[in-house]
Amino acid sequence: MRTHWGSQLGFILATAGSAIGLGNIWRFPYLLAQNSGGTFLFMYLLCVGLFGYFLLTAKLTFGRIAQTNFINGFQKASPQKISPLWGKIAGATTIFNIFMVSSIYAIVIGWTLSYVWVTLHNLTKPNIPVDQELFQNLTASYHTQLLWAVLCIGVAAFILIKGVKGGIERAALYLMPVLFGLLFFMLCWTISLPESEKGWAFLFKIDWEKLGFTPSNFQFKEFAHMTLLALGQAIYSLSLGLGVCFIYGSYLKPDIDIKKAALWIVGLDTCVALMASGIIIPALFSFGLETNQGPGLSFITLPFIFNQVKGGAFLMFLFFILLFLAALTSLISIYEPLINLCIEKLHLRRTKATILIAVINVIASMVILTSFTGIWQLKIMQRNLFDFVDYLTGSYTMGILVLLYSVFMGWKIFPQIKEELQIKNRFLSKYFPFLLKYFAPLILLMLFLTA
Ligand code: ALA
Repeated sequence: MRTHWGSQLGFILATAGSAIGLGNIWRFPYLLAQNSGGTFLFMYLLCVGLFGYFLLTAKLTFGRIAQTNFINGFQKASPQKISPLWGKIAGATTIFNIFMVSSIYAIVIGWTLSYVWVTLHNLTKPNIPVDQELFQNLTASYHTQLLWAVLCIGVAAFILIKGVKGGIERAALYLMPVLFGLLFFMLCWTISLPESEKGWAFLFKIDWEKLGFTPSNFQFKEFAHMTLLALGQAIYSLSLGLGVCFIYGSYLKPDIDIKKAALWIVGLDTCVALMASGIIIPALFSFGLETNQGPGLSFITLPFIFNQVKGGAFLMFLFFILLFLAALTSLISIYEPLINLCIEKLHLRRTKATILIAVINVIASMVILTSFTGIWQLKIMQRNLFDFVDYLTGSYTMGILVLLYSVFMGWKIFPQIKEELQIKNRFLSKYFPFLLKYFAPLILLMLFLTA
């Protein structure tokens, strides 16, 4: 018999835990800071509202209808006979995405854990040695990164072995409130900083020219650039290109209102991205630092700020714990579709399936690290493997999977989705199929062509 979530709250927190991760606390603030604050935020909210929420709802519903793994699900959910290629192509893309994304994810989450370790060991010192040099040393060391990554994969595997209800759901029920508490505490700290209001103004100010709306004409290229950046972030943040929503949906009981639950999940995910930006951006402004810091924002710039304030060591420790917990609940969710597949297709027990996936993930991380640290001088499109995999999944393969799902759900099983969701509202019954059949595939094709 198929496992199910224990409660609606557990399901919402677990799915929100999947969505809330490095994408919200590490990636979103630096993208927003790099792309004129409120302008990026505006486009992101638009993408989440018009696209992300509906795709999440549809994928959860598809999963609940299918009640099986992400390969067989296509045949099972469809009332007519469909080509087995649907399941095979979507399945292969899902497997590829999961291994690629989780390998990078494990390395980055390893960085956060190593930062927790360093801060913990220097808590009583006036200055914590967390700076550019530490980051450079860490990212240059194969063994150190591998050690932390393996530790993180081990923690995730330990939770996953305990099952959907006893592991994933229970971890979310404990960890998510801690995460929200930490975020709230840190937000109060930033609000108290002098001149932080400048950061808030930046966060909410829309520069229409950056969106291509100049007084004399409309520049489509600018608009497309910002849209695609925001859309890519929405896909990443809502875990839409990894088979997670499908599989979490397949553990749903029929009595859960998916439309409402998805609203909570999207709301929490967006709220955390906003709170994380509300912690980081005003702090940048308060210390007169540049906003254009890129990926080093959380790992280099923020620690620099913490080192300037009273009690900064403790704040730094809390921040990296926060980042670690958020990323851990996402890493867990990224593995789950594959574990489920191994159980159903290879008839493995959950423990064996988890260990198998964890071991493959460690090997994949090892390969990526050899190139990232320069041991193996491999470059693809002038990128080391870490950057290449990040680029490939972020710009193409996750989008391809969303495209496949969207087309399938729109053209093959929309009546089933509509019935399962009990859509009665006229606008929704028109917009939903329009989005799945035309709007989402078109926008995604644009994403590939301009990436
Ligand atoms: N959704 C996960 C994140 O935002 C992958 O980090």
